[in-house]
Amino acid sequence: MKVLVTGGAGYVGSHCVRRLVQGGHEVTVYDNLCAGHRAAVPDGVAFVQADLADTATLSSTLKQGFDAVMHFAAFLDVGESVRAPLKYYQNNVSNTIGLLDIMRDCDVKRFVFSSTCATYGEPKEFPITESMPQAPINPYGHTKLVMEWALSDCAKAWGLGACALRYFNAAGAAADGSIGEDHDPEIHLIPVVLQVALEQRPQVSIFGKDYPTPDGTCVRDYIHVEDLAEAHLLALQNIHPGVFDAYNVGTGIGTSVRQLIEAAREVTEREIPAADAPRRPGDPPTLLADPTKIKSQLGWRPKYTDISEILKTAWQWHRQHPNGYPE
Ligand code: UFG
Repeated sequence: MKVLVTGGAGYVGSHCVRRLVQGGHEVTVYDNLCAGHRAAVPDGVAFVQADLADTATLSSTLKQGFDAVMHFAAFLDVGESVRAPLKYYQNNVSNTIGLLDIMRDCDVKRFVFSSTCATYGEPKEFPITESMPQAPINPYGHTKLVMEWALSDCAKAWGLGACALRYFNAAGAAADGSIGEDHDPEIHLIPVVLQVALEQRPQVSIFGKDYPTPDGTCVRDYIHVEDLAEAHLLALQNIHPGVFDAYNVGTGIGTSVRQLIEAAREVTEREIPAADAPRRPGDPPTLLADPTKIKSQLGWRPKYTDISEILKTAWQWHRQHPNGYPE
């Protein structure tokens, strides 16, 4: 298929681009490089540097003829979304609606959407299945849920085929060490912990120690970025016109913040000082996927189910690229 990948220079997007190319698809990356990196896009992949809000460029690009769009371009900092909600609604909702509008005009009817476990809010039961209530507790989650609704409505109204992948916590890096995670500022636990291991930060703060979890720190379901990429490929192959569907993408295995730091100490053989800190606003205590649906319907299987193996790939990337991508 000919696939337009928005945000294809970003963390999850770039790993998916590589997987699409390996799968024989013809890929064009559309990215404004506000968070992505040109060096994360493989040589030979067409690249358009433009903003999603630039509808003239988006329209002329889509008019070249595409079979599908994979949409990664979005803001993802939960804390920032609480402070600046309109920035999130503008990009994650308005710009995505603009993209869908142009897709409809250009008769592109396959859409894979980066959704999130943050759409579930604070679930009462674990693991989380797709049919549980979606009640986000922060603006980031709201914007993703609004788009899931819009996709479902477009499927009914004009035959869009759309798949929302509800990521749990994307983690790790390409096994060959060629691409990995590089955010500025970095807010996610694994890269922060590895920056402490590299002595780029003095210590890691543990945000909250009194959550209702076994050790009092938040539990997350870390999913390797290459397993996420595989899920995107399978989703693309299984999209049907007029149908919206959603899948959790997680392993079903929970790791607490303290467990993760301990595993990182073993993998890196570094001390990694940690200190207790107040809770971070917007953090649910536990997020744990039930991935039964994507396994049974799409045949997806995660290759990485051990947090140490995930950390090893991330550690390889961070050690070899202590300053991230060359700019
Ligand atoms: N954490 C710390 N110290 C840090 C960073 C994080 O204790 O320095 C804790 C957080 O409080 C949280 C856990 O580590 O309990 C994981 O935090 P991350 O920031 O790595 O990831 P999140 O769980 O916040 O991820 C959430 C959603 C995802 C969403 C993502 C977007 O779970 O679905 O935010 O940023 F995509």
